[in-house]
Amino acid sequence: MDFSNVTCFIAGDQGCWKMINNHNISGVPLPSFDCLEITQEKNENLKAAWILKGVSSNIRYTTKDEIDKLKAIQPGLGRPEATLSAMIPIKKSEEWWNLAQDERRRIIEDQSGHIKEGMNFLPGIARKLYHSKDLGQPFDFITWFEFAPEHEKAFDALLSFLRNSEEWKYVIREVDLRFRLNNLSF
Ligand code: HEM
Repeated sequence: MDFSNVTCFIAGDQGCWKMINNHNISGVPLPSFDCLEITQEKNENLKAAWILKGVSSNIRYTTKDEIDKLKAIQPGLGRPEATLSAMIPIKKSEEWWNLAQDERRRIIEDQSGHIKEGMNFLPGIARKLYHSKDLGQPFDFITWFEFAPEHEKAFDALLSFLRNSEEWKYVIREVDLRFRLNNLSF
């Protein structure tokens, strides 16, 4: 894991994403705030309600076939039409982390269909996964998604599919934060 490349999610009163919803799903909630700044730069002076950190890391569970399919259809972040976003920090249980890699893959994909179902929502949803556990953070993952308003309902449907899955039985803390681009005048 490349710890020199830490991304900070800074909840405060500045940033290019304006918070529109802070929905606690499980575990301890996160305090509300106005705006989210996402940066790799250190800014010690910034006043923040909270800061969460993550690094992008190597793939753990995805097969070569799945990687090829994902590469062919997944969009990048920062599309002009993707004016909505979601940040969903997630923590999984000790029981999850005590499983072997092959058991976790079985739960994520064979029993839960995370990757297969998720692919049905591309290219509408752009995504990025950050790992936080090895940074000693309160969450194990920070998940980030960007989409156009017309894909919001589909995104919510995917979330409800995942939250009903076997994999989510191991999720012990989850907060669903939604944003819109801050420079829009509506
Ligand atoms: C938009 C469609 C989605 C696709 C195509 C997708 C695909 C994937 C893939 C391929 C992985 C495995 C990465 C690896 O091999 O290490 C993964 C992991 C993960 N995804 Fe998704 N995903 C999607 C949506 C979501 C959503 C809506 C959530 C909800 C927050 C989510 C949460 C996660 C988490 C927490 C992990 C890490 C699991 C772990 O390592 O235990 N994903 N996703």
